[in-house]
Amino acid sequence: MTGRLLLAVETSCDETAVALLDYSSPLDRLPRRADALRADLIASQVALHLPYGGVVPEIAAREHLQALPALLSEALRRAGGNAADIGAIAATRGPGLKGCLLVGLSFAKALASSLEVPLLALNHMEGHFYAGELNEENLPLDLPALALVVSGGHTMLVLQERFREYRIIARTRDDAAGEAFDKSATLLGLPYPGGPALSALAATGDPGRYPLPIGMPKDMTSFSFSGLKTAVSRLVDRFAPAGPGLEEVRDIAAAVETAIVEALVRKSIDAIDVHRPRTFILTGGVAANRRLRARLTEELGRRGLPFLVPPLRWCTDNAAMMAVLGARIIEREPERYRKDGWSQDELGPGVPLAVSALARWPLDEVNR
Ligand code: KG4
Ligand code: ZN
Repeated sequence: MTGRLLLAVETSCDETAVALLDYSSPLDRLPRRADALRADLIASQVALHLPYGGVVPEIAAREHLQALPALLSEALRRAGGNAADIGAIAATRGPGLKGCLLVGLSFAKALASSLEVPLLALNHMEGHFYAGELNEENLPLDLPALALVVSGGHTMLVLQERFREYRIIARTRDDAAGEAFDKSATLLGLPYPGGPALSALAATGDPGRYPLPIGMPKDMTSFSFSGLKTAVSRLVDRFAPAGPGLEEVRDIAAAVETAIVEALVRKSIDAIDVHRPRTFILTGGVAANRRLRARLTEELGRRGLPFLVPPLRWCTDNAAMMAVLGARIIEREPERYRKDGWSQDELGPGVPLAVSALARWPLDEVNR
């Protein structure tokens, strides 16, 4: 690898994201790991999907195809470099929307083969985990580390015991936490995606007025939010036909938020007590939630456990996290990504040209 820049391409859902990271010196030599980022761009498609009330996969895939070339040019311009400075490419291989993944991965493959640089085909959830390295205080991601990844699509507790060895400690049986926020918000008449609006209303509501069930399956390995949705629906029905007034909406919102947050916090604490990690990471779009941050800060503080939370733009889908993951892999396994180790049918050592996108790709299988 001669180029100083690692290019990361992330297209697993509805954000087209490209980042360039200077990996010519190890991340830990920098005052802050985030200093290595030379460009970090996200083209959001939110407005395009808004009329449909959710992401339309076909539209998202087409949009990625359209957006990628211009994003890459702009990223190179910001990094003050050109394509010849790209020494390796990291692309999201899965999990995500198949068509969307195919666009980003194909783009990365074509570029990697024309520039003759290694391709790292990486797991999106592992990227979310590595966003923890970009935490505001630049705290080290010491292993074993436990991560709570909570977004509109994922809700899981993941333990990384040794480098790139993951164990899923808990996952959701039904809705993701962000989905639970969004569906409750819809029931309260708030526009999609309602999570942020619901939590804003919750700030001035009384969570004790309409208490809702905290979904705590006895089974340590799962979350469940579908019961909450049913309870909210029943509660809202009590105000038919006019629907709840603003004051009631605030109180219900506060109860919803409390029920979701408490489920997340209690499961996290259970997992901490059992697995005794050295660091705790919070990431995913729901990490924006103030009550969740405050409750975790309180509980982790009590246990003296370092709390790693990336700034919001790196909690939601982004390419910077994929770049950090790629850089760590290259640092730790340089021999695997040496150009002279290539065979003709590979895009870099260990990465066959035939590498495919995976809509489903559990984190505990990244190394298989
Ligand atoms: O990571 P993200 O941007 O997209 C994916 O789902 O991958 O997460 C978006 C989710 C949505 O469900 C949104 O409602 C939720 O995160 N969210 C919040 C807040 N901000 C975003 N949920 C609760 N409180 C918030 N402040
Ligand atoms: Zn994500």
